[in-house]
Amino acid sequence: MTFFGNDNDGLDARRGAFGPDSFIGLPVSHLFDRSDSDVAELLAAAEVLEVKNPAPPAWLPPLPKVFHWGYGIAEDEFRDRFPPVGEYLASAGPSLFSCDLGPSARRHEGILPTSPVMGRKALYERARANMELLRSRYGGPVAFENYNFYPTGLYSKVCDPDFMAEFLDRFGAGLVLDLAHAAISALNMGFETERYLERLPLERTVEIHVSRPYLPEEPGRLGVDTHECPGDREWGWLSFVMERVSAAGARPLVLIEYYKDLSVLKAAMLRLAQELRGKAAATAAAAALPRRGADAAAFEDLGRLRAAAPRG
Ligand SMILES: [Fe+2]
Repeated sequence: MTFFGNDNDGLDARRGAFGPDSFIGLPVSHLFDRSDSDVAELLAAAEVLEVKNPAPPAWLPPLPKVFHWGYGIAEDEFRDRFPPVGEYLASAGPSLFSCDLGPSARRHEGILPTSPVMGRKALYERARANMELLRSRYGGPVAFENYNFYPTGLYSKVCDPDFMAEFLDRFGAGLVLDLAHAAISALNMGFETERYLERLPLERTVEIHVSRPYLPEEPGRLGVDTHECPGDREWGWLSFVMERVSAAGARPLVLIEYYKDLSVLKAAMLRLAQELRGKAAATAAAAALPRRGADAAAFEDLGRLRAAAPRG
């Protein structure tokens, strides 16, 4: 099954090289230093790299790459800042381009709109114009990431699961499912997280982002996208959506959006591999997690997990 329209020969064609249900991804972040042994181990554990900067380090290993951009498909800055991204896309040809779905105003400061909130027609017009610009430099698969909802007008429509499904369908695009954004949207709109997740167009999922948001328990307070390291609650969300995504035939790229401490990220990557590649090796691998200094051994286990993953 393909989720990218008819022009996908990128990720879809590469699936057979990796695990049966998913790819293990790694975002290339500002923490990456070529001489850091933690970085080398993280790169060894990754199957796909996510690049967010149109001038990524030249020393990255020759893994499949996807490009994720922090601007929304309907905002003015997408067009204003596009030229270097277009150069990168045209020359590097990443396996996937993704950016945010929305927002509902052409200009904003943080979560506040600084131009009129667009209706449905204007939103589609702006997105279409920016898609044309994108398509002038890139013919590969495209996906859009769900936002976190705040009641400011900036997220009007774009966090509504029915609108999201229609939007992705109209542009032949996949879904980048940010689980923290979904949980924040659910809280801020008054849903339970799982009830919101199951209303999303999960069959279009091509990428999943995992991190821990701040979700206050006091009624009336809003959730915040804090990008902390995922814990059991977040792994539970991943399991919840992977069941549904896999049942729909999708094989997403899954990555952790945590950027504070590489040794913590390494342990989380190991947990991610366990979550995605079955529980059989979990006991030995999990035993290595709490011990600082045992990371190398843990990643040998991770290497075995990868080697044991069914091919084809
Ligand atoms: Fe994300």
